[in-house]
Amino acid sequence: MNSTQTPSRSPDARTLRADVESFYHLTHGEHVGKACQGTACFAARHLNPACWAEAMQNNPRVYCLGECFAAPAKGQTHPRPPVKITSRQGVVLGRLANGNARTIEAYVQQGGYTALAKALESSPEAVLAAVEKSGLRGRGGAGFPTGRKWRSVAGQPEKVRYVVANADEGDAGAYIDRYLMEDDPHSLIEGMILAAYAVGAAKGYIYLRSEYPLSGKVLRQALADAGAAGWLGPKVGGTDFAFDLEVYAGHGSYVCGEETSLLRSIEGNRPEVMARPPYPTESGLWGKPTLLNNVETLVNVPWIVNHGGEAYGELGFSKSRGTKVLSLNSLFNRPGLYEVEFGVTVRHIVEELGGGLRGGGTLKGVIIGGPIIGMIPPHLLDTPLGFEELAAIGAGVGHGGVVAFDEHTSIPDLVEHVFSFGAYESCGKCTPCRSGSGRIEELFANAIAGDATKADLQECRDLVVALKLTSLCGHGTGLARFAESILRYYPTEIEPCFK
Ligand SMILES: Cc1cc2nc3c(=O)[nH]c(=O)nc-3n(C[C@H](O)[C@H](O)[C@H](O)COP(=O)(O)O)c2cc1C
Ligand code: SF4
Repeated sequence: MNSTQTPSRSPDARTLRADVESFYHLTHGEHVGKACQGTACFAARHLNPACWAEAMQNNPRVYCLGECFAAPAKGQTHPRPPVKITSRQGVVLGRLANGNARTIEAYVQQGGYTALAKALESSPEAVLAAVEKSGLRGRGGAGFPTGRKWRSVAGQPEKVRYVVANADEGDAGAYIDRYLMEDDPHSLIEGMILAAYAVGAAKGYIYLRSEYPLSGKVLRQALADAGAAGWLGPKVGGTDFAFDLEVYAGHGSYVCGEETSLLRSIEGNRPEVMARPPYPTESGLWGKPTLLNNVETLVNVPWIVNHGGEAYGELGFSKSRGTKVLSLNSLFNRPGLYEVEFGVTVRHIVEELGGGLRGGGTLKGVIIGGPIIGMIPPHLLDTPLGFEELAAIGAGVGHGGVVAFDEHTSIPDLVEHVFSFGAYESCGKCTPCRSGSGRIEELFANAIAGDATKADLQECRDLVVALKLTSLCGHGTGLARFAESILRYYPTEIEPCFK
């Protein structure tokens, strides 16, 4: 097989095998127009109890439509969220702040495809070196150094390689990738072509969650336009570099955002998480070396190529270089998309950007990049936004969705909500995640009803330890991290519920 051949076209919902289809929640787009029960909508449910009640009746459930700025949300009917850049350089949101660049003409007018033209005149190594120098780290949650990942794929002996964009954005509260794809699709496409050029891939996929139908429509048009302009196909930019790109729409499974699950989903296999190593960089799609990056990660790349890795590395702080986009939920006075430099404090995000809580509410805590991540209590608001700094308090940067909770949310209710989500979305491979998360949900439901004991709380603690130690992927360990932060920072709300 040469580098332009793929074993099969990825399947759509009509061609899924029965054992594969049973894994998914939304095989035929059943979520369109429905009410959402994601964590941002949970936090704001008191603003529209009828909408929340409707969301709780949905079967299959609808978790996050990317409308968290208007939560509780029903369908995708709201005007675009406000966009603001507070970093010294608008690396990611520049074109959204100018209106949008949905068409190729608008993208080119704002400097689009100049990075690719420049790269094609130099070498793949120059692109790789710029990304390494920039200090860019993955924006999909794990914060892995992007240059190191690219170098690993580029160095594989196998020459058939793939590039995949993770556009599954399932973290409740995050709507960053959605608006990048809908209003600036060519920046993702250009970032992917640059990635393919750097690592020597001839084929790429954008794995897009089916909850974002407009993103799919815009991206497919953008791919056709990029092809017509000569930026995709057998002779990219008139050179001998060939690259073909397509959109693969998912079927409503949060865990398919995890890289090994996602790749199995594209292959048409049952997308249970796989043990690593081998990592996808060595053995990914159809066993071939695969570069998988988040949408926002890839959108950074054209700017890095145009301005140099050094200029990018001057932004940010500590080991977190560059900028990060944050999406603020509807409990803030000023919800919307913000591009900040790493190093701003969580207090700055809550008070200066968000303008504090709507209706003068009292902040109970903030989740950045959740819900499977630690909660930040009010007394730790001066923690800076940085991968290591947030991890040190049991939280994280995650995907960058910022969900605030006010006095309307009781912490035991939040725990029940998060573990209900966790159990529903578990891929089922590990017992503590498959059964334990549902058991924690049940124990907290009992506690809320006044029917739980100290022994039940101890059982929860034991299950959290099991989740932490034995989960194969970040879904289980993330649930454990969330629970640990709650048990640590909110004992006065938890312990009285277990008599
Ligand atoms: C349960 C689970 C869900 C995830 N969902 C996403 C997602 O929606 N988007 C994403 O980019 N990464 C997601 N990730 C992280 C990916 O596994 C992977 O680390 C990431 O896409 C790599 O890209 P990056 O290095 O550019 O961040 C998820 C991980 C887990 C464990
Ligand atoms: S932790 Fe949960 S989601 Fe992850 S592999 Fe195990 S069962 Fe699947």
